[in-house]
Amino acid sequence: MENNYFKYVVGLLLLIMLSCKEKMKINKEEIIEQKVDSLLKLMTLEEKIGQMSQIRHFEKSAKKQISSKFIGSIIHTQGPLPGKTAKDWQKKFTDLQKQALKTRLGIPLLFGVDAVHGQNTFEGATIFPHNIGLGAANNPHLVEEIAKITALESQATGFNWVFSPCIAIPLNEKWGRIYEAFSESTQITANLTRASVKGHQGDLTDNTTVMATAKHFIGDGATDYGVEGGETTLTKDQVYNLLLEPYRVAVEEKVGAVMASFNTMNGISMHAHKALLTDTLKGQLKFDGIVVSDWKAYSRFGGNDIINAGIDMVMAVDGDLSKFQEGLHKGLENGEVSLARIDDAVKRILRQKFRLNLFDNPFSKTSLTKEIGKEQHRIIAKQAVRESMVLLKNEDKILPIAKETKKIVVVGEHANSSGLQSGGWSINWQGTKGNYKGSTNILEGINKIAKGNVVYDADATKNHFDADVAIIVVGEIPYAEFFGDIGHESNQLQLTLTEKHKKYINTYADKGVKTVVVLISGRPLVVTDDIDKSDAFIAAWLPGSEGDGVAEVLFGDYNFKGKLPHSWPKYVEDYKGKYGPNFWDNSIEPLFKLGYGLQYLQLKSALK
Ligand code: BGC
Repeated sequence: MENNYFKYVVGLLLLIMLSCKEKMKINKEEIIEQKVDSLLKLMTLEEKIGQMSQIRHFEKSAKKQISSKFIGSIIHTQGPLPGKTAKDWQKKFTDLQKQALKTRLGIPLLFGVDAVHGQNTFEGATIFPHNIGLGAANNPHLVEEIAKITALESQATGFNWVFSPCIAIPLNEKWGRIYEAFSESTQITANLTRASVKGHQGDLTDNTTVMATAKHFIGDGATDYGVEGGETTLTKDQVYNLLLEPYRVAVEEKVGAVMASFNTMNGISMHAHKALLTDTLKGQLKFDGIVVSDWKAYSRFGGNDIINAGIDMVMAVDGDLSKFQEGLHKGLENGEVSLARIDDAVKRILRQKFRLNLFDNPFSKTSLTKEIGKEQHRIIAKQAVRESMVLLKNEDKILPIAKETKKIVVVGEHANSSGLQSGGWSINWQGTKGNYKGSTNILEGINKIAKGNVVYDADATKNHFDADVAIIVVGEIPYAEFFGDIGHESNQLQLTLTEKHKKYINTYADKGVKTVVVLISGRPLVVTDDIDKSDAFIAAWLPGSEGDGVAEVLFGDYNFKGKLPHSWPKYVEDYKGKYGPNFWDNSIEPLFKLGYGLQYLQLKSALK
């Protein structure tokens, strides 16, 4: 009897505790809403428009503008660095934050950065494989860990907001941002989006996490012929069925921001697309965070139309600030924009600032700088490198290479450059070509593991034909948005390997040397002949700062795990249409299907 009574009391207490916890959560959100409403009531129109403005940290008189124009956010991307060391970066942003806190209402700033595969704007940070590689690894737990580390290293350099993840579904491999996205599969993308948003945001009030941005809404990777910022001609059903699910998931995970896309959707600029931005994203999906514009969108995509369509914060950079602020002011005066729309935008921005706890905790912690590029982070990055590699061919089981092999020749400039191995958005916007601080590369990895003689032949002119095996590393040079589109006037990027790189393979294969080809690329390339010519062929994507991890798989310390996140094209002619030869055009047979990837079958427990 007594025993039952005791159980009853404990059960009751548990119930009360559980419901209190739920209530606390609800209360927290309710309290935030009350704070947002009270603060909004105090704000002048100038202060409201100011909150909706984002500028660059190095702009002339940035500090003055924070005070006089009530700026809501600061961006860092390509351009002058905020300082030399991480402490300098923090100091720069702390100074700007102090400036904001001195304004009449003391509303703190959001500091946003293009940290798209690690805090890649800071040399010395951990740089992970680009998302296409993470799509190949398809390991949500790993993606969450990576996002956590990215958040931490971003905070350590002064940021509370990242413009990541890109959750596009690319339909044409000619698109120059294909590697920023996880996969052509909606399902893989949605699963990894969930992990990424979780990892970045964690508990938002904690200042080791950051607000994430799902981008670019919507159709960025689905333009006709893969043109960045081009025209997307999908039907509403196709948009909903193919592209929307990752956004639904991101919103479910409470992503703080969504960035609008450069492309048009059936003739309407996505920045001015009210039906998709407001009705679908904010209405149907119930997104209550910030819709941020992309670069200089106010002057590029329709002035006040973009505000009316649902843009809440404007990247008013490089001369756009006064155009935006004055334009919106006028728009309100002449009835083009309603005060209710402006209030809604400001509420969304304030809501996120409260959720981030910035009013109580506005600065980055200086103690965090020791986290940048630390060993434990690089161990995770190296795991991602290994898991992202996809084995496409392994004739006569030439792989794994025996560590005791007498002579190995490593061929190709890509083998000896972490810059080339990292792709765009690495140190610089369009990437970098040399080795950068804190990184390793494939050649170093081979040198570490191989016990025999390793020689390096950067351009296949040294004729090491007595080698037992040639590891030939070829691929693309780094590129980012616009400049990375195949067909863009600024470049000579192509769907195939360059003649020079084909020659690297042929030089050694023609002499009968066994050839293992490692392809470094931001997209699948048409390499049908090159695969035929070589004994083993690996898609290693863009591994980032831990390139030496590639060797650990080549020599069999670990097995291959990666599976193709895109179907792999066979012929250049397959690209005649609007979309690439991927899963979604059944008339074209790929060389390898989505999900393809070999393993070392004969191995064994020794392999991890
Ligand atoms: C890109 C975005 C990026 C922004 C800020 C734009 O050009 O499309 O992805 O976040 O620049 O650098």
